[in-house]
Amino acid sequence: MKPTVAPFPAARLRRIRQSASVRALVRENTLSPADLIWPVFVRDGTDIEEPVPSMPGVVRRSVDRIGDAAREAAALGIPAICIFPYIDQSLKTADCAGAWDPDNLSNRAIRAIKDAAPDIAVMTDVALDPYNINGHDGFVVDGEIINDATVDALVKMTVAQANAGADIIGPSDMMDGRIGAMRSALEKAGHQNVMILSYSAKYASAFYGPFRDAVGASGALSGDKNTYQMDPANSDEAMRLVERDLNEGADMVMIKPGLPYLDICRRVKDTFGAPTFAYQVSGEYAMIRAAEQNGWIDGQKVMMESLMAFKRAGCDGVLSYFAPEAARLLNG
Ligand code: PBG
Repeated sequence: MKPTVAPFPAARLRRIRQSASVRALVRENTLSPADLIWPVFVRDGTDIEEPVPSMPGVVRRSVDRIGDAAREAAALGIPAICIFPYIDQSLKTADCAGAWDPDNLSNRAIRAIKDAAPDIAVMTDVALDPYNINGHDGFVVDGEIINDATVDALVKMTVAQANAGADIIGPSDMMDGRIGAMRSALEKAGHQNVMILSYSAKYASAFYGPFRDAVGASGALSGDKNTYQMDPANSDEAMRLVERDLNEGADMVMIKPGLPYLDICRRVKDTFGAPTFAYQVSGEYAMIRAAEQNGWIDGQKVMMESLMAFKRAGCDGVLSYFAPEAARLLNG
Protein backbone atom coordinates (compact mmCIF):
# COMPACT_ATOMS: atom_id res chain seq x y z
CA MET A 1 0.00 0.00 0.00
CA LYS A 2 1.46 3.32 -1.09
CA PRO A 3 0.71 6.16 1.35
CA THR A 4 -0.93 9.15 -0.30
CA VAL A 5 -0.11 12.63 0.87
CA ALA A 6 -1.93 15.75 -0.26
CA PRO A 7 0.18 18.71 -1.37
CA PHE A 8 1.12 21.38 1.15
CA PRO A 9 -0.67 23.15 2.77
CA ALA A 10 -3.63 20.76 2.50
CA ALA A 11 -1.36 18.26 4.14
CA ARG A 12 0.60 19.52 7.10
CA LEU A 13 1.94 16.30 8.58
CA ARG A 14 2.77 18.09 11.81
CA ARG A 15 -0.96 18.44 12.58
CA ILE A 16 -1.09 14.94 14.00
CA ARG A 17 1.88 15.64 16.26
CA GLN A 18 0.54 18.81 17.86
CA SER A 19 -0.43 17.48 21.30
CA ALA A 20 0.14 14.51 23.53
CA SER A 21 -3.46 13.40 23.15
CA VAL A 22 -3.41 13.50 19.37
CA ARG A 23 -0.07 11.69 19.34
CA ALA A 24 -1.58 9.03 21.58
CA LEU A 25 -4.54 8.72 19.22
CA VAL A 26 -2.45 8.08 16.11
CA ARG A 27 0.26 5.97 17.76
CA GLU A 28 0.82 2.86 15.65
CA ASN A 29 2.51 0.59 18.18
CA THR A 30 2.30 -0.01 21.89
CA LEU A 31 4.57 -1.56 24.47
CA SER A 32 3.29 -3.31 27.57
CA PRO A 33 4.83 -5.49 30.28
CA ALA A 34 3.11 -8.43 28.54
CA ASP A 35 5.59 -8.01 25.66
CA LEU A 36 8.58 -8.78 27.86
CA ILE A 37 10.55 -11.91 28.73
CA TRP A 38 12.98 -11.38 31.59
CA PRO A 39 16.32 -13.27 31.40
CA VAL A 40 17.66 -14.09 34.88
CA PHE A 41 20.97 -15.61 35.97
CA VAL A 42 21.09 -18.31 38.64
CA ARG A 43 24.05 -19.56 40.62
CA ASP A 44 24.86 -21.98 43.40
CA GLY A 45 24.80 -21.12 47.10
CA THR A 46 22.20 -19.61 49.39
CA ASP A 47 20.95 -16.10 49.97
CA ILE A 48 23.10 -14.59 47.20
CA GLU A 49 22.39 -11.70 44.86
CA GLU A 50 25.70 -10.95 43.21
CA PRO A 51 26.12 -8.08 40.73
CA VAL A 52 27.37 -8.83 37.21
CA PRO A 53 30.06 -6.16 36.72
CA SER A 54 29.66 -5.82 32.95
CA MET A 55 25.86 -5.55 33.26
CA PRO A 56 25.09 -2.85 35.84
CA GLY A 57 21.75 -3.53 37.53
CA VAL A 58 21.80 -7.26 36.68
CA VAL A 59 22.51 -9.88 39.35
CA ARG A 60 23.14 -13.59 39.65
CA ARG A 61 20.76 -15.10 42.20
CA SER A 62 21.01 -18.28 44.19
CA VAL A 63 18.09 -20.66 43.62
CA ASP A 64 16.49 -19.71 46.98
CA ARG A 65 16.28 -16.10 45.73
CA ILE A 66 14.82 -16.91 42.33
CA GLY A 67 11.30 -17.07 43.74
CA ASP A 68 11.57 -13.34 44.54
CA ALA A 69 12.23 -12.61 40.88
CA ALA A 70 9.28 -14.76 39.86
CA ARG A 71 6.92 -12.97 42.26
CA GLU A 72 8.29 -9.62 41.08
CA ALA A 73 7.61 -10.57 37.46
CA ALA A 74 4.07 -11.66 38.34
CA ALA A 75 3.39 -8.41 40.21
CA LEU A 76 4.68 -6.37 37.27
CA GLY A 77 2.70 -8.26 34.62
CA ILE A 78 5.79 -9.78 32.96
CA PRO A 79 4.55 -13.13 31.60
CA ALA A 80 7.79 -15.06 31.30
CA ILE A 81 11.23 -15.57 32.81
CA CYS A 82 14.16 -17.15 31.00
CA ILE A 83 16.77 -18.94 33.12
CA PHE A 84 20.53 -18.90 32.51
CA PRO A 85 22.84 -20.82 34.87
CA TYR A 86 26.26 -19.68 36.05
CA ILE A 87 28.23 -22.89 36.48
CA ASP A 88 31.43 -22.95 38.50
CA GLN A 89 34.53 -23.54 36.35
CA SER A 90 35.38 -26.65 38.37
CA LEU A 91 32.07 -28.30 37.40
CA LYS A 92 32.50 -27.88 33.63
CA THR A 93 33.40 -31.05 31.74
CA ALA A 94 34.02 -32.19 28.17
CA ASP A 95 31.03 -34.58 28.28
CA CYS A 96 28.74 -31.79 29.58
CA ALA A 97 26.80 -34.33 31.69
CA GLY A 98 25.57 -31.58 34.00
CA ALA A 99 23.39 -30.29 31.19
CA TRP A 100 20.82 -33.09 31.51
CA ASP A 101 21.11 -33.69 35.26
CA PRO A 102 17.53 -33.47 36.59
CA ASP A 103 18.86 -31.61 39.65
CA ASN A 104 21.17 -29.17 37.91
CA LEU A 105 20.99 -25.49 38.72
CA SER A 106 18.56 -24.52 36.00
CA ASN A 107 16.21 -27.44 36.68
CA ARG A 108 16.13 -26.52 40.37
CA ALA A 109 15.45 -22.92 39.36
CA ILE A 110 12.55 -23.99 37.13
CA ARG A 111 10.94 -25.79 40.07
CA ALA A 112 11.55 -22.83 42.40
CA ILE A 113 9.86 -20.42 39.97
CA LYS A 114 6.91 -22.75 39.51
CA ASP A 115 6.55 -22.96 43.31
CA ALA A 116 6.75 -19.21 43.80
CA ALA A 117 4.62 -18.02 40.88
CA PRO A 118 2.89 -20.87 39.04
CA ASP A 119 1.44 -18.58 36.37
CA ILE A 120 4.81 -17.31 35.17
CA ALA A 121 5.91 -19.08 31.99
CA VAL A 122 9.38 -20.50 32.47
CA MET A 123 11.69 -20.47 29.49
CA THR A 124 15.04 -22.24 29.37
CA ASP A 125 18.22 -22.05 27.35
CA VAL A 126 19.27 -25.21 25.54
CA ALA A 127 22.96 -25.29 24.63
CA LEU A 128 25.96 -26.97 26.19
CA ASP A 129 28.10 -23.87 26.77
CA PRO A 130 27.49 -23.33 30.51
CA TYR A 131 28.58 -26.93 31.17
CA ASN A 132 31.30 -27.25 28.55
CA ILE A 133 34.95 -27.06 29.56
CA ASN A 134 35.73 -25.26 26.28
CA GLY A 135 32.75 -22.88 26.34
CA HIS A 136 31.15 -24.10 23.10
CA ASP A 137 27.46 -24.80 22.55
CA GLY A 138 28.26 -28.28 21.23
CA PHE A 139 30.75 -31.10 21.78
CA VAL A 140 34.20 -30.40 20.40
CA VAL A 141 36.05 -33.27 18.71
CA ASP A 142 39.45 -32.57 17.12
CA GLY A 143 38.66 -28.88 17.05
CA GLU A 144 35.31 -29.37 15.32
CA ILE A 145 31.94 -28.59 16.95
CA ILE A 146 30.15 -31.78 16.02
CA ASN A 147 26.48 -31.59 15.15
CA ASP A 148 24.63 -34.89 15.54
CA ALA A 149 26.04 -36.07 18.86
CA THR A 150 25.38 -32.57 20.20
CA VAL A 151 21.74 -32.81 19.11
CA ASP A 152 21.38 -36.08 21.05
CA ALA A 153 22.71 -34.35 24.17
CA LEU A 154 20.46 -31.30 23.63
CA VAL A 155 17.45 -33.61 23.39
CA LYS A 156 18.30 -35.12 26.80
CA MET A 157 18.72 -31.61 28.20
CA THR A 158 15.34 -30.58 26.75
CA VAL A 159 13.46 -33.51 28.26
CA ALA A 160 15.09 -32.92 31.66
CA GLN A 161 13.95 -29.27 31.53
CA ALA A 162 10.42 -30.26 30.53
CA ASN A 163 10.33 -32.82 33.33
CA ALA A 164 11.32 -30.06 35.76
CA GLY A 165 8.34 -28.00 34.61
CA ALA A 166 9.67 -25.73 31.85
CA ASP A 167 6.94 -24.25 29.64
CA ILE A 168 9.10 -22.92 26.80
CA ILE A 169 12.26 -24.59 25.56
CA GLY A 170 14.76 -22.15 24.06
CA PRO A 171 17.37 -23.85 21.89
CA SER A 172 20.19 -21.35 21.42
CA ASP A 173 22.78 -23.79 20.06
CA MET A 174 22.31 -23.39 16.27
CA MET A 175 22.90 -27.08 15.52
CA ASP A 176 21.04 -28.55 12.52
CA GLY A 177 18.11 -30.89 13.10
CA ARG A 178 17.61 -30.01 16.74
CA ILE A 179 14.09 -28.63 16.59
CA GLY A 180 12.61 -31.76 15.01
CA ALA A 181 14.53 -34.02 17.38
CA MET A 182 13.42 -32.03 20.43
CA ARG A 183 9.80 -31.91 19.27
CA SER A 184 9.52 -35.65 18.79
CA ALA A 185 11.27 -36.36 22.11
CA LEU A 186 8.88 -34.01 23.89
CA GLU A 187 5.86 -35.67 22.28
CA LYS A 188 7.14 -39.11 23.22
CA ALA A 189 7.78 -38.05 26.81
CA GLY A 190 4.21 -36.79 27.21
CA HIS A 191 5.13 -33.11 27.00
CA GLN A 192 2.77 -32.25 24.15
CA ASN A 193 2.12 -28.79 25.56
CA VAL A 194 5.73 -27.79 26.12
CA MET A 195 6.58 -25.12 23.56
CA ILE A 196 9.74 -24.46 21.57
CA LEU A 197 10.91 -20.90 21.01
CA SER A 198 13.78 -21.45 18.63
CA TYR A 199 16.74 -19.11 18.48
CA SER A 200 16.42 -19.55 14.72
CA ALA A 201 18.47 -16.62 13.48
CA LYS A 202 21.27 -16.34 15.98
CA TYR A 203 24.26 -14.41 14.75
CA ALA A 204 27.91 -14.87 15.72
CA SER A 205 27.96 -11.59 17.58
CA ALA A 206 30.39 -9.63 19.72
CA PHE A 207 27.34 -8.21 21.51
CA TYR A 208 27.26 -11.38 23.67
CA GLY A 209 30.45 -10.40 25.54
CA PRO A 210 28.91 -9.33 28.88
CA PHE A 211 26.63 -12.41 28.91
CA ARG A 212 29.62 -14.71 28.68
CA ASP A 213 30.97 -12.92 31.78
CA ALA A 214 27.62 -13.36 33.50
CA VAL A 215 27.54 -17.13 32.94
CA GLY A 216 31.28 -17.56 33.44
CA ALA A 217 31.94 -18.71 29.88
CA SER A 218 34.32 -15.95 28.76
CA GLY A 219 37.45 -17.57 30.11
CA ALA A 220 36.38 -21.03 28.97
CA LEU A 221 35.62 -20.20 25.34
CA SER A 222 38.33 -21.30 22.94
CA GLY A 223 38.06 -19.84 19.45
CA ASP A 224 34.81 -18.40 18.11
CA LYS A 225 31.31 -19.66 17.26
CA ASN A 226 31.43 -18.85 13.56
CA THR A 227 30.90 -22.42 12.34
CA TYR A 228 27.44 -22.60 13.89
CA GLN A 229 26.19 -19.08 14.57
CA MET A 230 25.27 -16.89 11.59
CA ASP A 231 27.41 -14.47 9.63
CA PRO A 232 26.22 -10.91 10.45
CA ALA A 233 26.40 -10.15 6.72
CA ASN A 234 23.52 -12.52 5.88
CA SER A 235 19.78 -11.98 5.69
CA ASP A 236 18.38 -14.55 3.19
CA GLU A 237 20.02 -17.28 5.25
CA ALA A 238 17.94 -16.16 8.26
CA MET A 239 14.77 -16.75 6.23
CA ARG A 240 15.89 -20.29 5.42
CA LEU A 241 16.66 -21.00 9.07
CA VAL A 242 13.32 -19.67 10.30
CA GLU A 243 11.41 -21.60 7.63
CA ARG A 244 13.33 -24.77 8.48
CA ASP A 245 12.66 -24.42 12.23
CA LEU A 246 8.94 -23.72 11.73
CA ASN A 247 8.72 -26.79 9.51
CA GLU A 248 10.37 -28.87 12.23
CA GLY A 249 7.80 -27.74 14.79
CA ALA A 250 9.04 -24.53 16.40
CA ASP A 251 6.09 -22.69 17.96
CA MET A 252 7.87 -19.34 18.04
CA VAL A 253 11.08 -17.98 16.60
CA MET A 254 13.73 -15.54 17.74
CA ILE A 255 16.21 -13.17 16.15
CA LYS A 256 19.34 -12.44 18.15
CA PRO A 257 20.90 -9.91 18.79
CA GLY A 258 18.08 -7.39 18.62
CA LEU A 259 18.56 -3.76 17.72
CA PRO A 260 21.30 -4.25 15.08
CA TYR A 261 19.07 -6.89 13.39
CA LEU A 262 15.67 -5.20 13.22
CA ASP A 263 15.68 -5.66 9.43
CA ILE A 264 15.68 -9.42 10.04
CA CYS A 265 12.81 -9.11 12.54
CA ARG A 266 10.71 -7.27 9.99
CA ARG A 267 11.48 -9.73 7.20
CA VAL A 268 10.71 -12.74 9.40
CA LYS A 269 7.41 -11.31 10.62
CA ASP A 270 6.30 -10.27 7.13
CA THR A 271 7.31 -13.56 5.53
CA PHE A 272 6.09 -16.12 8.06
CA GLY A 273 3.65 -14.35 10.38
CA ALA A 274 4.72 -16.62 13.22
CA PRO A 275 5.15 -15.42 16.82
CA THR A 276 8.43 -13.54 16.51
CA PHE A 277 10.75 -12.47 19.31
CA ALA A 278 14.00 -10.58 19.50
CA TYR A 279 16.68 -10.82 22.16
CA GLN A 280 18.05 -7.46 23.24
CA VAL A 281 21.32 -9.03 24.30
CA SER A 282 23.82 -8.27 27.03
CA GLY A 283 26.03 -5.98 24.94
CA GLU A 284 23.06 -3.88 23.88
CA TYR A 285 22.03 -3.58 27.52
CA ALA A 286 25.57 -2.78 28.67
CA MET A 287 26.05 -0.05 26.07
CA ILE A 288 22.90 1.78 27.16
CA ARG A 289 23.80 1.42 30.85
CA ALA A 290 27.38 2.58 30.29
CA ALA A 291 26.33 5.69 28.37
CA GLU A 292 23.71 6.39 31.04
CA GLN A 293 26.31 6.07 33.82
CA ASN A 294 28.54 8.51 31.97
CA GLY A 295 25.68 11.00 31.79
CA TRP A 296 25.77 10.87 27.99
CA ILE A 297 22.19 9.70 27.42
CA ASP A 298 18.92 9.55 29.32
CA GLY A 299 19.01 5.82 30.11
CA GLN A 300 15.29 5.42 30.80
CA LYS A 301 14.25 7.14 27.60
CA VAL A 302 16.72 5.17 25.50
CA MET A 303 15.54 1.96 27.16
CA MET A 304 11.90 2.64 26.29
CA GLU A 305 12.73 3.83 22.77
CA SER A 306 14.81 0.71 22.11
CA LEU A 307 12.03 -1.59 23.35
CA MET A 308 9.40 0.19 21.26
CA ALA A 309 11.66 -0.24 18.21
CA PHE A 310 11.20 -4.01 18.47
CA LYS A 311 7.42 -3.66 18.40
CA ARG A 312 7.66 -1.32 15.41
CA ALA A 313 9.85 -3.88 13.62
CA GLY A 314 7.09 -6.48 13.98
CA CYS A 315 8.19 -8.40 17.06
CA ASP A 316 5.54 -9.86 19.33
CA GLY A 317 7.86 -9.61 22.29
CA VAL A 318 11.39 -8.97 23.50
CA LEU A 319 13.79 -10.73 25.81
CA SER A 320 15.41 -7.90 27.72
CA TYR A 321 17.41 -7.39 30.88
CA PHE A 322 15.47 -4.12 31.17
CA ALA A 323 12.22 -6.08 31.66
CA PRO A 324 11.54 -5.26 35.34
CA GLU A 325 12.60 -1.61 35.07
CA ALA A 326 10.63 -1.09 31.86
CA ALA A 327 7.57 -2.81 33.33
CA ARG A 328 7.74 -0.60 36.43
CA LEU A 329 7.79 2.49 34.21
CA LEU A 330 4.96 1.22 32.03
CA ASN A 331 2.87 0.47 35.11
CA GLY A 332 3.47 4.01 36.33
C1 PBG B 1 24.54 -19.48 24.83
C2 PBG B 1 23.84 -18.18 24.81
C3 PBG B 1 24.42 -16.94 24.57
C4 PBG B 1 23.44 -15.99 24.79
C5 PBG B 1 22.27 -16.66 25.10
N1 PBG B 1 22.52 -18.03 25.10
C6 PBG B 1 25.83 -16.58 24.28
C7 PBG B 1 26.54 -17.22 23.18
O1 PBG B 1 25.96 -17.76 22.23
O2 PBG B 1 27.76 -17.17 23.24
C8 PBG B 1 23.66 -14.51 24.70
C9 PBG B 1 22.74 -13.66 25.50
C10 PBG B 1 23.22 -12.27 25.72
O3 PBG B 1 24.28 -11.82 25.23
O4 PBG B 1 22.51 -11.55 26.44
N2 PBG B 1 24.14 -20.48 24.01
